[in-house]
Amino acid sequence: MREVNQDNITEVFAGYFGDETDPRFREVLVSLAGHLHAFAKEVKLTHDEWRKALEFFVWAGDITTAERNEFVLLSDVMGLSSLVDMINSDPRATSSSVLGPFHISGAPPLAVGGDMKRNFEGEVVLWQGFVRNVEGEPIAGAEVDIWQTAPNGMYSSQDPDQETYSFHGIITTGADGRYALTTVRPVSYTVPSDGPVGAILNAAGRHPWRPSHLHFIIKAEGYRTLVTEIFPDDDPYLDEDTVFGVRDDLVIRYRPQPAGTFPDGFELSGKVEDAYSRVDFDFVLIGE
Ligand code: BEZ
Ligand code: FE
Repeated sequence: MREVNQDNITEVFAGYFGDETDPRFREVLVSLAGHLHAFAKEVKLTHDEWRKALEFFVWAGDITTAERNEFVLLSDVMGLSSLVDMINSDPRATSSSVLGPFHISGAPPLAVGGDMKRNFEGEVVLWQGFVRNVEGEPIAGAEVDIWQTAPNGMYSSQDPDQETYSFHGIITTGADGRYALTTVRPVSYTVPSDGPVGAILNAAGRHPWRPSHLHFIIKAEGYRTLVTEIFPDDDPYLDEDTVFGVRDDLVIRYRPQPAGTFPDGFELSGKVEDAYSRVDFDFVLIGE
């Protein structure tokens, strides 16, 4: 009989795989087991601590629904979602950043220059730019799927007072690769913190805040789909995003514009009586 001990348990684990096992699955699982074993040895994990961890996973399973996935949130606050983003980002393209749980597919089309805020009040933002490839050429027909919080800090799926697709829209770029919209400034908000992940944040003395942002998914034929977010440089949580989503190239500045100077080509043309802000941001996609 082979003795299993602290020194060889990972090796023994690796030896239990069947011959037909997918090699990548085997590589990932053996590495994961090896890191888990090393972690338990390093911190000298106690029975009590491991039991609490397992209870945490049961709680996370119990609270998880189609609308709320506590495991994704755990991955987000542990920095794993962002690390996977970074590992798989190509430095020539715009960085990717966490998807989050509040995207809804099937958002209504928004014309280039359309008004995504509809009837909501707030500081108006005129946001525009181009979708380009790494050679700087415009990408026509790119689908720019955009969503954000309402001024109350809630996404439509969290807020019974908002319509399903409030602050959601999909712009398709024309031949020049341009997208443009008007909206209101999104606000900083907290990730759901009333469950097991909130308990971890609390125990770690961490806050649940994210800096304000607009979310984007950009799809174009022949290009890798980009999932990302854009953040303003003046947000108080920019350097302490609880899900680690901020990258240097995803930070913009809201540039103040005087009232009454709204440019042509926007649904709101000529209607702006108050000062507003302008953002210019280009997305770069990488070929598949
Ligand atoms: C979001 O940006 O919508 C989000 C991301 C991660 C966790 C919770 C929310
Ligand atoms: Fe978000």
